[in-house]
This record gives sequence, C-alpha cells and structure tokens, in this order.
Amino acid sequence: MDSQADYVTVARTDQIPPGICRTVEVEGVFLAVCNVNGTYRAVDNTCPHAGGPLGEGALDGEVLECPWHGWRFNVRTGERPENHEIRVTCVEVRVLGTNVQVKIPFTL
Ligand code: FES
Repeated sequence: MDSQADYVTVARTDQIPPGICRTVEVEGVFLAVCNVNGTYRAVDNTCPHAGGPLGEGALDGEVLECPWHGWRFNVRTGERPENHEIRVTCVEVRVLGTNVQVKIPFTL
C-alpha cells in the first residue's frame, strides 16, 4: 500500500524526446529524466563519483554517461555496467497524457 504516494509533473513528453536526458527539479531536488526509446526513466541527478550533473550527460540506449569523467549508469536499474556495486537511485516515472510525472515522495 502506498496510499500516500502521488505524482508530480516534471516535463511535457515533447520536451524530452527519445535519446535525450534533461535535468528537472522536484520540490528542490534535481533528477535526471531520460527518454529511452519512448520509455521515461528518472535517476538522481548527482553522480556518485564526484557530484557531476547526470542530467547533462549523454544517453546511449538506457545507459547515461556522466559529463564530468564518463562514469556510466543504466537508468533502468541505476547500476554502473562496469561495477554493479555502484549505483544511482531510480525514481518511478509515468506518462499521463502528454505529462511526464515522477512519483513522490522519493528518497535519494
Ligand atoms: S562526477 Fe560523474 S564521473 Fe566523475
């Protein structure tokens, strides 16, 4: 049961086209929202290596590369392909009409 859960709109679908990642702010917290071939994913925007902005990274399939030093993360699982021990937190996303929404509350 998660009757306390709700969703908040962070973007329109056309603002994050396929293959693109954008930084969004949800209640003062930054997330990287990615469009993986029509499926939207959201992860913590802060790279666990040294705090780089993942939302400004390049997306290749479901793998997002940090723009600072190139660490890569699977945005579906949160894991680094190179080291599954290192990961970013994933946040649940849904599309409602033309709105991309993330589930709140979430914990990063
Ligand atoms: S801060 Fe992301 S790879 Fe270094």
